[in-house]
Amino acid sequence: MKESQPSTIYLKDYKVPPFLIDKTELTFDLDETTTVVTSRLHMRRNPASGKSTEPLVLDGGEDVKLIGLAMDDYALPPEEYRISEGKLIITATADEFVLTCETLIEPQNNTRLEGLYRSSSMFCTQCEAEGFRHITYYLDRPDVMSVFTTTIIADEARYPVMLSNGNQVEKGKTEEGKTFVVWHDPFPKPAYLFALVAGDLAVKNDSFVTQSEREVTLQIFTEPHNLDKVDYAMEALKRSMRWDEEAYGREYDLDIFMIVAVDDFNMGAMENKGLNIFNSSCLLASPETTTDDSYLRVEAIVAHEYFHNWSGNRVTCRDWFQLSLKEGFTVFRDQTFSADMHSEIVKRVEDVSFLRTAQFAEDAGPMSHPVRPASFIEISNFYTLTIYEKGAEIVRMVHTLLGAEKFRAGSDLYFDRHDGQAVTCDDFITAMQDSSGVDLTLFKRWYSQAGTPVVTATDEFDSASGTYRLTMKQQTPATKNQPTTLPLHIPVRVGLLDTSGKVLTSALSGSTSEEHVLHLNSSEQTFEFTGLTSKPVPSLLRGFSAPVKLHYDYSTSDLLLLMSSDTDGFNRWSAAQQIAVNELTMLINQSIAGESLSLESQLVKGFKALLSDESLDPAMVALILTLPSQAYLSELANPIHPAAIKEARQYLKTLLANALSGEFELLYNKHNIQGEYQATAEDIAHRSLKNTALSYWVETNSDQAHQATFEQFRTANNMTDQFSALSIAVHSNNAKATDMLAAFYEQWKAEPLVVNKWLMLSASQDSSDAVASVKALMEHTAFDLKNPNKVRSVLGGFGQSISGFHNEDGSGYHFLADQIILLNSRNPQIASRLCTPLTRWKKMEAKRSEKMKAELERILAQDLSKDVYEVVSKSLA
Ligand code: ARG
Ligand code: ZN
Repeated sequence: MKESQPSTIYLKDYKVPPFLIDKTELTFDLDETTTVVTSRLHMRRNPASGKSTEPLVLDGGEDVKLIGLAMDDYALPPEEYRISEGKLIITATADEFVLTCETLIEPQNNTRLEGLYRSSSMFCTQCEAEGFRHITYYLDRPDVMSVFTTTIIADEARYPVMLSNGNQVEKGKTEEGKTFVVWHDPFPKPAYLFALVAGDLAVKNDSFVTQSEREVTLQIFTEPHNLDKVDYAMEALKRSMRWDEEAYGREYDLDIFMIVAVDDFNMGAMENKGLNIFNSSCLLASPETTTDDSYLRVEAIVAHEYFHNWSGNRVTCRDWFQLSLKEGFTVFRDQTFSADMHSEIVKRVEDVSFLRTAQFAEDAGPMSHPVRPASFIEISNFYTLTIYEKGAEIVRMVHTLLGAEKFRAGSDLYFDRHDGQAVTCDDFITAMQDSSGVDLTLFKRWYSQAGTPVVTATDEFDSASGTYRLTMKQQTPATKNQPTTLPLHIPVRVGLLDTSGKVLTSALSGSTSEEHVLHLNSSEQTFEFTGLTSKPVPSLLRGFSAPVKLHYDYSTSDLLLLMSSDTDGFNRWSAAQQIAVNELTMLINQSIAGESLSLESQLVKGFKALLSDESLDPAMVALILTLPSQAYLSELANPIHPAAIKEARQYLKTLLANALSGEFELLYNKHNIQGEYQATAEDIAHRSLKNTALSYWVETNSDQAHQATFEQFRTANNMTDQFSALSIAVHSNNAKATDMLAAFYEQWKAEPLVVNKWLMLSASQDSSDAVASVKALMEHTAFDLKNPNKVRSVLGGFGQSISGFHNEDGSGYHFLADQIILLNSRNPQIASRLCTPLTRWKKMEAKRSEKMKAELERILAQDLSKDVYEVVSKSLA
């Protein structure tokens, strides 16, 4: 362990920057061995800071070598500056000056993938959150906004494409015969939005005419062999640009918008001004190589990054504690966009399912933090589900509380009021409040309080007066870091049904309607619905109107009623999930007690009714048929018994498959549509239902089902069907599974993104020697430790293997810890993410819990990056 541990940064310590940088002029002399960066920063003291003597402290990194420093063109002598812990400190400055700084960096040795680095044959950057300081010394904080002019010098033969933010304004030859290009971005921006790309890239050109009839050039750059996979992203980009005009009145502002795909990237994509950089897995798509899920992901991420141009770039964050200001809002925007492009309910079910599984688990674990954290050690650790997904839920609740029209007015006011500024989450809520007149004072607590609120509902019916009383209590669990928790303002959308499933109209505080939004804003409240003749069945939290855990003592027949008759599609799904959770919980308990499993399943009834309802969207049917995942059941359990959960799921799935085998076979054949692949909601729905049906049908272990799986694998004209068949074969012990996996690799070994899917599936296999198999996979030529996608595929897949990762002897945990230690020094961000499954140790059953904890302790004894140190030390605290 290090002598001194990394320090914590607090929101309460925020101070305005002592200096401003009006203009930033950068010159990059790119080279395979050493790259020289020259910056000319036009700086002045910040009048708002009120201090006139503070030294100038610029952020840098150990990997940046200072080779020249001048103020107003006078070289600074060594006694006038020093470098300490990566920072450059200049003791005395004028009120206004130009600082010239020359640094030497080695992008080819940058394995952290932050700052300037190489991916395949190109140079590229990732500066959010604090990558820019690995390029040159700077005030690397989002409230320092500057106008950038960037000159790139390189050998044109190897780097014919040289890109940066804004517009290209000049191109020429240097005296040494190298090529230079100059880019200018007229919009002031923080350094985290800076980007540079240089390489031998192919381009797809297109254009878009904005609502005010300006023509914008659109370009997507990839390595030449991938150019045939960018058409879908280009169309998605144009849809996003149109949608942002129509839904939010936001028009694009530069004359050119560029996207570049790179293979080595820590996250999904990055919204750099005018020059988005994407992980190729989030941009490239073709029917043969890309599944439906990935198509939808490409569209959503293209939209997300594009939408950031307003929610993030034109209006940015004051400090990184405000990260959800741009991320929560932008996720909400991309979710709404996808809902508009496809199906609103399907999208909502998928998003909620993800939130309830992964964000709820995060919020109940050691890294739990408010949507606006109060402190952090390493900001990279806070690109979390809480900031993104729970942040989006907060914005969605504002939308519910204000209604669509007032929400739009609030958004207009926000963009108008803060254009060109770096602001806070409070500013966002204030704009929403000012434009609508809706009091959001209490609501703001959602930003500062961590944890998932538990809402408990009870009810009674007074037949004499026809009054239905619904009492709701809320409680956010207290934790060591948050010993007192307070009530939140929770919007609860509610409808009432009679016992035949008919929708009821009721009056609540003077308004008569089929649906009401309850404002639960204290620890206990009773709501009185009048005008009823018998006790209704409540449909609570429709559309998942707030990110809470809702408890209401539904009988199974109530749930079956909601599942078949609720007018809220989301709650039909939710009711089916609840029946499944109840039945699975019984089975899990039997398994833990060492009993043989047995169950009189009511879900069979529900599924029968569901399958006979012709009016439903096949995509919804597929979702309702999908049993709660291992991960979701783990989130609900305490303690977690991974093997029992697996056994219970398997038991219920087989039971349902046998009870409804004829139905599943029919369903499979009915939705097995052929024809040219299209990534439309309709076709995706059919494929999804077909493959869900197949996954049940094979559980009957019929030869026909196994044969159908094999045939689908062999003859599919698209990756969705081929990969579904392969996964089903692998997880159902199809006799041909091993051969199919091998054939799949042979067929696709030249397509890295497909190979990643193969790596993931191979690593997820349950077998007694899963640890040995995953080690072998990491030796395979298809694997590369430098590539985050491959690391995520193999170790992510391995995490799903119960006999592998969760092997009782602890070998899976030990293996993962080894990989974390190995990656800690090479790529701290990736290493830190890999810790997540181990951080859940406190919720794990005793045997496994101790072994996980021991591995965390072993990691903590190493010399750690800030990233890994923060996660591991907080997990053990
Ligand atoms: N702002 C990016 C997005 O949401 C995420 C980039 C974060 N990258 C990082 N290395 N922390 O699209
Ligand atoms: Zn984002």
